Amino acid sequence: MIDGVPELEDLGDVSGKSVLVRADFNVPLDGERITDDLRIRASLPTLRWLLERGATVTACSHLGRPKGEANPAYSLDPVRGRLAELLPEVKLKENLRFDPGEEANDAAFVDQLVAGHDVYVNDAFGASHRQHASIVGPPSRLPSAAGRLLAKEVEVLLGLRERPRRPFVAVMGGAKVSDKLGVIEALLAIVDSIVVGGGMAYTFLAAQGHNVGASLLEADMIDACRSLLASGATIHLPEDNTALGPGGKLLDPGAGGEVRQVGRDIPDGWMGVDIGPGTAAVFGDVILDAGTVLWNGPLGVFEDERFAAGTRAVAEAVAETRAFTVIGGGDSAAAAKMFGVDNDVDHISTGGGASLELIEQGDLPGLAALRAAGKRLTT
Ligand code: 3PG
Ligand code: MG
Repeated sequence: MIDGVPELEDLGDVSGKSVLVRADFNVPLDGERITDDLRIRASLPTLRWLLERGATVTACSHLGRPKGEANPAYSLDPVRGRLAELLPEVKLKENLRFDPGEEANDAAFVDQLVAGHDVYVNDAFGASHRQHASIVGPPSRLPSAAGRLLAKEVEVLLGLRERPRRPFVAVMGGAKVSDKLGVIEALLAIVDSIVVGGGMAYTFLAAQGHNVGASLLEADMIDACRSLLASGATIHLPEDNTALGPGGKLLDPGAGGEVRQVGRDIPDGWMGVDIGPGTAAVFGDVILDAGTVLWNGPLGVFEDERFAAGTRAVAEAVAETRAFTVIGGGDSAAAAKMFGVDNDVDHISTGGGASLELIEQGDLPGLAALRAAGKRLTT
């Protein structure tokens, strides 16, 4: 058991049982084409373990945010197709969020979900920070356990909180400070330094009194950034930036607009959209000297080749360093894949919000529900 959370072995004999597996098959789609099946492949160890022991397996998941209504654009059919290629024995229910009871954590919806099943397994790490019916409901109805993926994620991410190899460096990027303030505050108590890039760096630079031009700025977060900077923690900010000039458009090089390297101050009308080469080198050195690296969020608009260099340099440093390296889901995982370094990282989390919340809080609603079920299993 991981900290009171039952695992598959704790379920006893599952042969002949009907097992409901909550997975996170919220995969990126381009129309009906799955552009990254990591979350499907990551669920296979649990699904196989159950099948090999003679269980009948039904999986369920959400996909996107259809807001409680059936909507063919959010159908799980593409996932069903991929799953049929990988493990045809597994049945898959339709998108849980087609029913408003899922997000409302409605008791009648939980009853409907577990009907006909003998055992519940939560392997949906990426959704375990949600108080939704399929995550927190079934453990009060059925013998329940964490699947392999959930257990592995918890072991690695809680390990970062509890016994990191030092120095421990967190590399934080992405657009908004407001999304990450809680986790940055929590990380400051754990890490030796934080490296900040991406859109959110400009709110930090503004808090230091720099001109940020037309860059992303969350004015209501400036005070919060100022207190973080005054806390005495080691926070590395960009010393130079790649900026896009007036008239330019992101993801559209044909639209014109000049691209230029600037310092900490961004000229009026210009938009900082990537860390500059000097900063990329400094950040790379910090990563190479680390004992543990947690990376969450791109350092620039890497989907636009003109502004990919900062994120690429960080991805390469994360691949090269001898540190234990963890990528916290979503965009940074996509970036690691795009730059071909995804196999050189120790752990790529399948959860974005969930990984940050687990590091921040040390627990998740889905784990708490399983822990309560675990007490019943053992008494
Ligand atoms: C995710 O992709 O972040 C998870 O699947 C959770 O989805 P949600 O943010 O829509 O709850
Ligand atoms: Mg999300």
